[in-house]
Amino acid sequence: MEKHILVTGGAGYIGSHTCVQLLERGYQVTVLDNYCNSSPQALKRVEQIAEKKIEAIEGDIRNQALLEQVLRSKTYSGVIHFAGLKAVGESSEKPLEYYDNNVSGSLSLIRAMQSHGVKCMIFSSSATVYGDPKYLPLDEAHGLGPVNPYGRTKFMVEEMLRDLVASDSQWSVGLLRYFNPVGAHPSGLIGEDPRDVPNNLMPFISQVAVGRRQHLNVFGGDYDTPDGTGVRDYIHVDDLAKGHVLALETLIERARLLTVNLGTGAGCSVLEMLKAFETACGKPLSHQVQPRRPGDIATSFADCRLAEQELGFRAERTIRQMCEDTWRWQSNNQNGYS
Ligand code: NAD
Ligand code: UD1
Repeated sequence: MEKHILVTGGAGYIGSHTCVQLLERGYQVTVLDNYCNSSPQALKRVEQIAEKKIEAIEGDIRNQALLEQVLRSKTYSGVIHFAGLKAVGESSEKPLEYYDNNVSGSLSLIRAMQSHGVKCMIFSSSATVYGDPKYLPLDEAHGLGPVNPYGRTKFMVEEMLRDLVASDSQWSVGLLRYFNPVGAHPSGLIGEDPRDVPNNLMPFISQVAVGRRQHLNVFGGDYDTPDGTGVRDYIHVDDLAKGHVLALETLIERARLLTVNLGTGAGCSVLEMLKAFETACGKPLSHQVQPRRPGDIATSFADCRLAEQELGFRAERTIRQMCEDTWRWQSNNQNGYS
C-alpha cells in the first residue's frame, strides 16, 4: 500500500521541492498550507513535474478543528512540518506573530497528531539554533543559543519534540537543521519566490540579474574571511529535499529521535557566490560593499558526518548548479508565480 504523508507548508520553497521527490518515490501527498508566503500555483507545478496529483487543503496549522478533520480523514505514515514564518528581521519586530505561528502552530499540530496516533514527524529546524559558532564546522553537539525570536521559535519546538520523544518511545522525530538552502528544480518550474524585498543573498542576486533590483548590497567587506565577506554553507534545495525523504524512510522504519545538520560542509563567500552567478547568467552584476548587517556572523558551515552516518545522506550539487538552476527559475519566471 502506498504511504500517505501530510506536508504542512508544502506550497512553500522547500516544501514544493520535497513534494516532488515524495511523489516521485511513490508517496501520496496531502498539503496543508494557508498560502501566507506561497501560491497554490506552486502545487500545480509540482503536479506537472511529477505527473501525479496532490491533495491540497487551504488552511492554518493553528486551526485545531481543521487539523483534527484532516488527520481523521485518512491514515498517515508521517508528517513533514514546514509551515512557519522565517524572516529573522521581522521576527524581532513582531515576535508574538512568530511565537503564535511557529510555536503554537506546531503545538496544535503535534497535539492533533498525538490524538490520532500519527507519531512520526520531521521538523524544519535551522542552523540558526546554534547561535554564534564557538567552533567550526558546526556539529550537532554544539551548544544551542539562538540570538533572535525566529531562532528561539525553532529552539522551542525542538525542545518540545525532545520532551515528547522522551515521554513516549512510539514517537519518531527528525529535527533537521538546514544550513542555507538555495537553488531550484532543474525544470525551472518551481523555485524561491519571496513576496517582498528578499532578505537572503541568493534571491537578491537573482533579482539583480533579471533587472528587478539595481545592485547587490554586500553586507560587510571586513570580516575575518579570505575575501572579507561572509561565508555560508549553501545547500541545493533538491539535496535538502532528498535529505527529507531519507529521514522519513528511517523514521518510519524505526521510532527514534534524529537530529542532523543538512549542509554540504563547505563554505562559500558572498563574492564567490556573486561570481558564480555572473557565470551562470552570463553577465556582470553590480554590487556595493555596505556596512555589516546587524546580527550577522562571519562564517558558518556544517559538519555533515552525522547525516551521512545516520541517513547515508551527502549533498551532491555544486555551487555552479545552484546558480544555474536559480537562474533558470528566475529568468523563466521573472515575477515568480504571480
Ligand atoms: P516558505 O515561506 O517558502 O514556506 C513556508 C510555507 O508555510 C509557506 O507556503 C506558507 O504559506 C506556509 N505557512 C506559514 N504559516 C502557516 C500556517 N500557520 N499554516 C499553514 N501554512 C503556513 O519557507 P521555506 O523556505 O520553504 O521554509 C520552510 C521551513 O523551513 C520553515 O519552517 C523555515 O523556518 C524552515 N527553514 C528555512 C530555511 C530557509 O533558508 N529557507 C532555513 C532553515 C529553516
Ligand atoms: C539567514 C538567517 C538565518 C536562516 C538562514 C537560512 C539572518 C540574519 N539569518 O542566514 O536565521 O537560518 O538565512 O537561509 O537573516 N548578504 C549580503 N547581501 C544581501 C543578503 C545577504 O551580502 O542582500 C550576505 C549576508 O551578510 C551573509 C550571506 O550573504 O553573509 C548570507 O546571507 P543570508 O542569505 O541572509 O543567510 P544567513 O544570514 O546565513
